[in-house]
Amino acid sequence: GSTLHEAADESGRYYGTAIAGHKLSDSQYTTIANREFDMITAENEMKLDATEPNQGQFNFSAGDQIVNWALNNGKQVRGHTLAWHSQQPQWMQNMEGSQLRQAMLNHVTQVATHYRGKIHSWDVVNEAFEDGNSGARRNSNLQRTGNDWIEAAFRAARTADPGAKLCYNDYNTDDWSHAKTQAVYNMVADFKNRGVPIDCVGFQAHFNSGNPVPSNYHETLQNFADLGVDVQITELDIEGSGTSQAEQFRGITQACMAVSRCQGITVWGVRDSDSWRSQGTPLLFDGNGNKKAAYNYVLDQLNSG
Ligand code: G3I
Repeated sequence: GSTLHEAADESGRYYGTAIAGHKLSDSQYTTIANREFDMITAENEMKLDATEPNQGQFNFSAGDQIVNWALNNGKQVRGHTLAWHSQQPQWMQNMEGSQLRQAMLNHVTQVATHYRGKIHSWDVVNEAFEDGNSGARRNSNLQRTGNDWIEAAFRAARTADPGAKLCYNDYNTDDWSHAKTQAVYNMVADFKNRGVPIDCVGFQAHFNSGNPVPSNYHETLQNFADLGVDVQITELDIEGSGTSQAEQFRGITQACMAVSRCQGITVWGVRDSDSWRSQGTPLLFDGNGNKKAAYNYVLDQLNSG
């Protein structure tokens, strides 16, 4: 294949990117996005604050714009995200207890129903575990509604859109020895044992010098896959430049391709200048839209395997 998605398609995988709706009028951006990627995630437009700015009043215009752009161009869509402690609308931030539980489940149901039939995979729950060594759930207003909030969200999502794969998505879950990785693994194992409807685990894969690509990345992906879920790399970016950055991108690509249940990779933006990181050059295209060394290494790895 001569583009990322063509090369990924050869092994039955996808290659995706995050799209920001306000950049769809930038022709350099859409040209690259359309040529290289076949799986699209809305960077912000399908989050809670965007889709339910006032309780019970849903606004799908920004999300629809991205979904329609993707589907009209023959691409698939990852839904991001139905339930999260962050980017909650103000009304939800002020809520607790059973009222919040009910509002969260209604949000999951309404949003998943609106997009029913159009979503490859939903990040049903995002970032529900704490950083550090505790392996605990993150203390959030959602967590305080009861430890079963995550499975309740998955059940509501399954009912609303039975055709979408339902994922749990998190960051710093790349190193197999990390307590957070183990905690997510144990939750997924428990869900599979009890028949909670979960189909996939998303690994955000935001890497930098403090959180480098671990040497056991392949082992992490394989161990999760062995639980009977698909694995997806959902928000990849790697700080750095040149050959060293390119080699790390290659390592991630290699790890995914070595795991049959690793369905694809999504990078979190198109050009370095599109990254959520205010500084640095963590993506595959430079600010002028030129392919970087990292791009060439990824493409070669996808083609070799
Ligand atoms: O839209 C407003 C704009 O009207 C306003 O003028 C401007 C001023 O600050 O803010 C704009 O909103 C910003 C939004 O991005 C759109 O650019 C928010 O402040 C800013 O917080 C938001 O950041 C996003 C971040 O999630 C929020 O949590 C990033 O774009 C987005 O890349 C990032 O993505 C997350 C994933 O969802 C979950 N995993 C981690 C990943 C990186 O942080």
